[in-house]
Amino acid sequence: MQVKLSVADVEVKGKRVLLRVDFNVPLEEGRVKDDTRIRAALPTITHLLQRGARLILVSHLGRPKGEARPELRLDPVAKRLSELLGQKVRKLDEVVGPEVEKAVQELADGEALLLENVRFEKGEEKNDPAFAARLAQLADLFVNDAFGTAHRAHASTAGVAAHIPAVAGLLMIKEIENLSRCLEQPARPLVAILGGAKVSDKLNIIRRFLELADMLLIGGGMANTFFAAMDCPMGDSFFEEGMVEQARAILEAAEESSCCLQLPVDLAVTRELKPEAPFKVVPAADIPEGWKAVDIGPETAALFAESVADAGTVLWNGPLGVFETPPFHRGTETVARAVAQSKAFSIIGGGDIVAAIEGFGLADKISFISTGGGATLEFWEGKELPGIAVLQDK
Ligand code: 3PG
Repeated sequence: MQVKLSVADVEVKGKRVLLRVDFNVPLEEGRVKDDTRIRAALPTITHLLQRGARLILVSHLGRPKGEARPELRLDPVAKRLSELLGQKVRKLDEVVGPEVEKAVQELADGEALLLENVRFEKGEEKNDPAFAARLAQLADLFVNDAFGTAHRAHASTAGVAAHIPAVAGLLMIKEIENLSRCLEQPARPLVAILGGAKVSDKLNIIRRFLELADMLLIGGGMANTFFAAMDCPMGDSFFEEGMVEQARAILEAAEESSCCLQLPVDLAVTRELKPEAPFKVVPAADIPEGWKAVDIGPETAALFAESVADAGTVLWNGPLGVFETPPFHRGTETVARAVAQSKAFSIIGGGDIVAAIEGFGLADKISFISTGGGATLEFWEGKELPGIAVLQDK
């Protein structure tokens, strides 16, 4: 496991601390719709404030690609953060520049401000050294708590560490510990569950799980591409035509692997995807003309639930059906309830499945909910994440 120096190991009183957080949260009508990621950063923020740091918070929101976009300003985030902290967090309208420098100079010990959306700056995603240096000049210490963005080598996640000492935040440490634990010494059987629409996003992780896991359960739209690779009738189901060959290669690799790859045995299919649409359950390998797969069927859900009940560790990314459109949440919910009830050490990661589990009211029954989407997958793939690599080792 990578053991990194953390905020708990360094003196911060009176220091200007540049804290990278992942406040990439959904907004609705100018308000934060889901504040999970803000709450996840609170332990590090309060740790630093209580010890007298002068906090400069920096985050991205969305993908504005170097342009200032009014709807992606961080004002609603600052408002929610101030409410949660019970302390005013001043929001600036710029990321760098004289106004920002002045505001930082005025910060007292134990006070915090939030910079504007860092992706309004062209240098951010390019990891432009000049922009990274300007950001770093604002502070004496860099703390990275943005696990969800740790797979990006950007100026505010990696570049700044070339200029000032860099340590991990408490959330970052928790993510590294939990995600490593389930890979390095997992209680077995290790059951991995992958869902979501696309195989193309998950090729590497599927191959990795075939090496690591005892069982890999695949559902959601991505299962369709495997059925297409087996030349099954697909009806009107979504699948990735360009990935059929890759899916075939994975099925062959699974034959050689000691991991048991389980695809759905039955599916819920509908003619038209809309709430409470009429549907029927059909064998997975035989979707009728004019119908499309929208959920795993009850037999599959029971099969998956049984595997999970006996698991020592469960890792889950991606929903198993179109859970946002009832009743096609049923497969995901049945399996989620089994995970919640099992004694397994369970980790879920990725926005959609986290939203689904929260919607079912099961979040507190999961051992660890990762704040990462792509970052969690890349961590499990065994890749070095740039936002972690730059942090000082303990
Ligand atoms: C996420 O939501 O996965 C992170 O905030 C990273 O966002 P990005 O995919 O736009 O880099």
